[in-house]
Amino acid sequence: MQIVRRLERLGPTLAALKAAGRLALVPTMGALHAGHLELIAQGRRQADAVAATIFVNPLQFGVDEDLGRYPRRDEADAALLAEAGCELLWLPQPEDIYPAGFATTVRVAGVGDRWEGAARPGHFDGVATVVAKLLIAVRPDVAVFGEKDFQQLAVIRRMAGDLDLGIEIAGVETVRDGDGLALSSRNAYLSADERERALALPRALQQARDAITAGEDVGGTIDRAKQMLSQAGFAPIDYVALVDADTLEPLDRASGTMRLIAAATIGSTRLIDNLAVAPA
Ligand code: PAJ
Repeated sequence: MQIVRRLERLGPTLAALKAAGRLALVPTMGALHAGHLELIAQGRRQADAVAATIFVNPLQFGVDEDLGRYPRRDEADAALLAEAGCELLWLPQPEDIYPAGFATTVRVAGVGDRWEGAARPGHFDGVATVVAKLLIAVRPDVAVFGEKDFQQLAVIRRMAGDLDLGIEIAGVETVRDGDGLALSSRNAYLSADERERALALPRALQQARDAITAGEDVGGTIDRAKQMLSQAGFAPIDYVALVDADTLEPLDRASGTMRLIAAATIGSTRLIDNLAVAPA
């Protein structure tokens, strides 16, 4: 695996990879786990070569968020990526992504407005801006993202389509620990006790999914899921909602293609999760 740090090295390395066939790109912020590696595996299935990026993007963190303590382990991550069959790791330098005077924001209205967009003002602007920059710099045939960040995936699909990037956006199902907790770089913040109580998040979503599939009232089901979370010690609960899987608009009864989404904080760690709900 080649490791590129300087922007001027990127072009020649990419040219060689693209000459060999289709290229997949997997953007990450590092602290890699089996979820990220599943994106690499998906990239390998959809392309002849896979490139990954590790860039802890300051633009997508709020002032009171965890930018300063976000886990950084580039060397261990590089070893994992090489082992997973990644051909290129680009570690952009902040000044390459945001040179002095950088003044452009990519903002995706509609699908990015609610939920994470409301709870973390400016977050999706930061995500859309950096992902647009990474996609334009690498110009892969396909870019791979996780359903773990379901609304982010919807925002990126919209952005790539709206900007005519001509890059396929692939989504990968959430990878979970054996007990059901979705893998996340932020799980590293959890104490043993919080890790145990965090299981209420996937469990509340599973119960809600089963209730909605069984035809139970959506409002009552969501209320019960929130109760489960607060009983487990989650506070605040930013949202638990049934939404349209494409528009992310809330649904008060089951219809079409649906997703249950949730975000809540345990201790000082904010976790998000989501589940597909079978069509009504
Ligand atoms: P990060 O949180 O590092 O995640 C990188 C990619 O891995 C995202 O597409 C995310 O959805 C996916 N991912 C994370 N946990 C996963 C899991 N348990 N199963 C499957 N996929 C998982 O998301 C970001 O970084 C950033 O916002 C980024 C897109 C890189 C822009 O900065």
